[in-house]
Amino acid sequence: MDAPGNPLTVAVIGSGPSGFYAAGTLLEHDELDARVDMFERLATPWGLVRFGVAPDHPKIKSVSSVYAKIAALESFRFFGNVEIGTHISHDELTERYDAVIYAVGTQGDRTLGIPGEDLPGSVAAVDFVGWYNGHPDYADLSFDLSSERAVVVGNGNVALDVARILCSPYERLAKTDIADHALEALRDSNITEVLVVGRRGAAQAAFTTPELKELPEFTESGVDVDPEQLAEVDEDALSRVAKRNVGVMRDYAAGDTELGKRHITLRFQRSPIELRGDGRVEEIVLGHNELRTAEDGWVSAHDTGERETVETGLVLRAVGYRGVPIDGLPFDERRGIIPNDKGRVVGTEREYVVGWIKRGPTGIIGTNKKDSVETVNQLLEDLAAGTLRRHERDGTVDIESWLAQRQPDLVTEQGWQLIDAAERAAGEPHGRPRVKMCDLDALLDVALSRTRP
Ligand SMILES: Cc1cc2nc3c(=O)[nH]c(=O)nc-3n(C[C@H](O)[C@H](O)[C@H](O)COP(=O)(O)OP(=O)(O)OC[C@H]3O[C@@H](n4cnc5c(N)ncnc54)[C@H](O)[C@@H]3O)c2cc1C
Ligand SMILES: NC(=O)c1ccc[n+]([C@@H]2O[C@H](COP(=O)([O-])OP(=O)(O)OC[C@H]3O[C@@H](n4cnc5c(N)ncnc54)[C@H](OP(=O)(O)O)[C@@H]3O)[C@@H](O)[C@H]2O)c1
Repeated sequence: MDAPGNPLTVAVIGSGPSGFYAAGTLLEHDELDARVDMFERLATPWGLVRFGVAPDHPKIKSVSSVYAKIAALESFRFFGNVEIGTHISHDELTERYDAVIYAVGTQGDRTLGIPGEDLPGSVAAVDFVGWYNGHPDYADLSFDLSSERAVVVGNGNVALDVARILCSPYERLAKTDIADHALEALRDSNITEVLVVGRRGAAQAAFTTPELKELPEFTESGVDVDPEQLAEVDEDALSRVAKRNVGVMRDYAAGDTELGKRHITLRFQRSPIELRGDGRVEEIVLGHNELRTAEDGWVSAHDTGERETVETGLVLRAVGYRGVPIDGLPFDERRGIIPNDKGRVVGTEREYVVGWIKRGPTGIIGTNKKDSVETVNQLLEDLAAGTLRRHERDGTVDIESWLAQRQPDLVTEQGWQLIDAAERAAGEPHGRPRVKMCDLDALLDVALSRTRP
């Protein structure tokens, strides 16, 4: 291994699960003498664990304690409120660090490409999720919750999250860390039904069973499923997860639980065709699909030509997230990822990727651990082979003063600790895990101990 006697310096860009798992894996290798600097564009760490995972899933969010332990290591530094591509460039990082691992996730959304999609009332789940989770980029948005029905397009867990939050009783949400602005808006919502539509069948839904099964408990209502839509499902041909999902849906279809004040309806084999309305969304046209199974077992949806019009004032598309390019790095437009070979960025020397920007926007938090280990292993192989050549001098010794010039409002780990403590203290009297600060200036006031006149 080519080692000039300096520590191995690694910059990790992004502080979501994949970034922390990459940092943790590197720092477990004592023989490397690695130092990790993590850069995050927001003032707060944890990526989608803070801004994606639903507020009514606090146990899942508690994975952040694993990340806090990594952040407490002496060989780790956190630099928040620094955006790669804005405050510092990709080239400046490779000049200073032996290796740079991009863990930037997929910040964009996918569109449906149908007429009327740009009408007010047509919304990306990415925006809605960011809004209810208090992400500063989305905190100023507002959503019209005045109609009686919302429609969610997509059959993944994000669709279920959004539908569940829209149907949850106020008292439940009020005990979570949901953003205060969202809590208030949802309290006054007129929505009584959230129609979740999937383009393929019940058996092809990407839901996971616990998330499907918990809906009645969380919404205090039954779930409306048309038994006819399950009639032709051949259980013997299904995967274990699909079989379990269909089992839960059959229970819903049996109608044992009464529909409450607000409920979720699941409908399958429906594709969005057009959004219509006078100046804003008033209805969605759905096309009915038939399913065809290919020789390899893949089930696809095909338009039968039949149409159905559904009244609604809010259409949320939960059809997946999408990566955005980073200046100076290659980008695969079709897949929305940074092209890579097991984590090595194609055509570069020092760059690696982990998480959603490496493999696309799928997989739960735990999936990112194995994925980050794979990338770190490539990095170690490259070091051993000498294809990753270490810098002669440690380029990170004056990093803090360099950063302070580029971003005077730098948030360090200590700054984040102040935010964390303030949010938790604000939540405590109300039985909430925290009250999130959603405004960058307010976050910086606390992190930098700034006082305002
Ligand atoms: C709505 C939603 C709910 C989810 N709920 C669950 C759940 O309940 N359970 C579960 O197991 N999984 C859940 N997941 C999946 C899980 O969140 C992901 O698997 C995981 O967050 C992906 O990790 P990541 O590190 O690749 O990306 P992210 O978590 O997105 O982290 C990327 C980080 O990079 C930062 N960043 C981006 N660009 C830059 C830049 N240019 N410079 C500096 N920093 C940058 C971002 O601000 C962010 O902090 C959910 C996903 C979504 C979308
Ligand atoms: N509680 C949790 O554990 C939790 C919560 C949220 C998210 N997550 C995870 O985060 C990841 C991302 O979730 P996700 O829901 O964004 O993605 P996802 O699981 O990939 O689901 C996307 C859904 O959108 C549908 N879709 C895509 N394009 C469409 C189009 N043009 N028209 C109609 N439907 C379309 C897909 O249908 P097809 O199958 O037909 O393509 C699929 O049903 C997943 O791995 C998920 O499990 C986990």
